[in-house]
Formats: sequence, C-alpha cells, structure tokens
Amino acid sequence: MSRLHSMATSYNALINLRLPKPKLRRGPKVLDLFSGCGGLSLGFEAAGFRVTGYEMNQNACETHRSNLSGDCKCEILTVDSTFPEADVIVGGPPCQPFSVVGTQAGAADHRNGLEVFVSAVQQVRPDFWMFENVRGLLGRSQAYLQDVLRRLSIIGYTVEPPRILNAREFGVPQNRERVVVVGYRRGKFEWPSRDISEISVRTAIGRTALQARQNSRFLTPAMDAYIAKYEKASCCKTPRDLSLDKVARTLTCRNLGGATGDMIRLLLPDGRRRLLSVSEAARLQSFPSWFRFTGSYTSKMTQIGNAVPPMLALALANSIKAFLAKQKGG
Ligand SMILES: C[S@@+](CC[C@H](N)C(=O)[O-])C[C@H]1O[C@@H](n2cnc3c(N)ncnc32)[C@H](O)[C@@H]1O
Repeated sequence: MSRLHSMATSYNALINLRLPKPKLRRGPKVLDLFSGCGGLSLGFEAAGFRVTGYEMNQNACETHRSNLSGDCKCEILTVDSTFPEADVIVGGPPCQPFSVVGTQAGAADHRNGLEVFVSAVQQVRPDFWMFENVRGLLGRSQAYLQDVLRRLSIIGYTVEPPRILNAREFGVPQNRERVVVVGYRRGKFEWPSRDISEISVRTAIGRTALQARQNSRFLTPAMDAYIAKYEKASCCKTPRDLSLDKVARTLTCRNLGGATGDMIRLLLPDGRRRLLSVSEAARLQSFPSWFRFTGSYTSKMTQIGNAVPPMLALALANSIKAFLAKQKGG
C-alpha cells in the first residue's frame, strides 16, 4: 500500500470512527433549523443527541433522512412555524444575507432566517441554543446581530459573545471560519478545545487527488486560459490550485457547484486541472465515507458546500452535552 493511500485511509478511518452511522438515540432532543443535508445534525447525533431537522430543499431533506436516524421535516420555515418541545435548538440560517460575496443586506434580505431562529427559541424555550453563520455576520449586520441577541437575552438567556471558530482546528482539512453564538439559562459553557494538529488535503484525499477518472470534470480550455490570464495579471505567487500539503481553501456552494465552480480545483501531473469529485469534496468537509448525498452533481455539491463540517459540529455537540450533563447533575 502506498503512503498516500495509507494516510487517506487512516483519515477516513478516523472520521468513520468519530462519526459512525447513527443509531436511534435516547439523549436530549435537538431541533436543527435549516438543517441542509445534515452536517450539523450528524455531529449532534454522533454525540448522542436525538435530532429532528427542518429543511425546505427536497434533495437535502432526502440526504438527511437517508443518513441520519432522526427525521427531517421538509418544509419552508417562517416566523409563524410551530415547533415541538426540545432541550436544544441549533441552526445555520442561510448565509447569503450576511456573506461578503453578497450585498450584505442582512435583516432586509428576504432570505434572512435569524428571525425564524429567534421565534423558535421564544416559542420552545430550550435549555440551550446555538446558531452559526459566516464571518460577515459580524460586519455590516453587527447592529442587527446585537438586536437579535438582546431579544434572546430578555427572555432569560445568558448570551456568550460570538466566537469565530475555524474548522481546521477541529480535525477538518479546510480553512473554514464560522461565527458561532450560544445561549443558555444558567451555568457556564466551556467552548470546545482546539486541536493544533492540522489535516492536509493530501492526508484527506491524497489517494485520488492526482488521478483522473472516467467521470472526472476538467476545466475547459476557456477556464484554463482565464486562469492563466488572471494569474499573470495579478502576479499570482500562490496559484489557486489546491495545495496538497495545506488545508483546503474554504469550500462553498458557489465554488464547488455554482457560479465560481472553477475556483476549487486540483492540478494533475499532466497539467490538466479538474474539479473535485463529490466524495473528495465531502471528505474535505469531514463527512464520513458511509454518508451518501441525494440529487444531481450540482445539488450534492451545494449541500456539501453549505454544510457545517461534521467534525466541527461534533466538537460543539460534545461541549453542549457536557454542559447539559453538568446542569442536570447539580
Ligand atoms: C447554510 S445551509 C445549512 C447547512 C446545515 N446546517 C448543515 O450543516 O448541513 C442553509 C439551509 O437552509 C435552507 N433554507 C433556506 N431558507 C429556508 C426556509 N425558509 N425554510 C427551510 N429551509 C430553508 C437551505 O435550503 C439550506 O439548505
């Protein structure tokens, strides 16, 4: 067995071990709002929680249902949606209203899901809540975020100052920053501790990264020409091809399957560039190898690019589990 093969196999083995196929759980009940394909849900199920997802995209719901043991309600959430009792509410509302690649319209953007999250917490009054979003939430929408947090604190929650966590510090082979906000009734929450040993692209997908397959998607000559022109004009010192010896750049639905789908790519030894396969993208997001995505290539890549990396979700879920256990014990 080659060294590349054994490194990728051991990374696979590690995530498959930490994120096993979920069994029916008996732990605290979690509602995962805007659950997508279930990256966040998977981390919580692996930590022993019982999770119900809420998601409007049919393919994402199907992926969630077929991989996780909890249900996923396929519905469009609004501020009038009603929810069952739960110990914890988590969620990753759509990031477009806050992303720096958009207009950052925040609260004024019709896709803003933070109001749904606030309404769910006001209604259910869980012991703990957590939401995550892109770093842009701390930019132009800062005043709106503070208003959201004020409304949650006046109903009795201690709200921790928002934290920026980077997935690369939690066993994910990717530079992916997320703003995480948590609230709870009493006690003191301990954030998960960071792991300094980073996982490179080579360790995660080294076995296939330099190969072309029959169904590989190559960049077109026009894309190659554009890249050459762009790199020359910007005196590019670090080409945007994925470097095998570093963590990957942030995978998003835009740069995996969307408008800028040529931005995450691998340079092959013969000089051709190809896009990631679905399983390579999933692995760089720390999805275990047993996890299967439903839908077209674009739909699968969108689900992957949207997800909270399950290994980051697991670290957060374990901290929340420890916090709730301490509350219960005393
Ligand atoms: C950032 S993704 C969430 C990813 C998810 N937390 C994960 O870890 O896989 C946001 C999701 O919200 C869904 N969504 C957006 N607006 C919605 C709405 N009003 N009701 C239900 N789902 C919605 C989108 O389809 C998308 O899958």
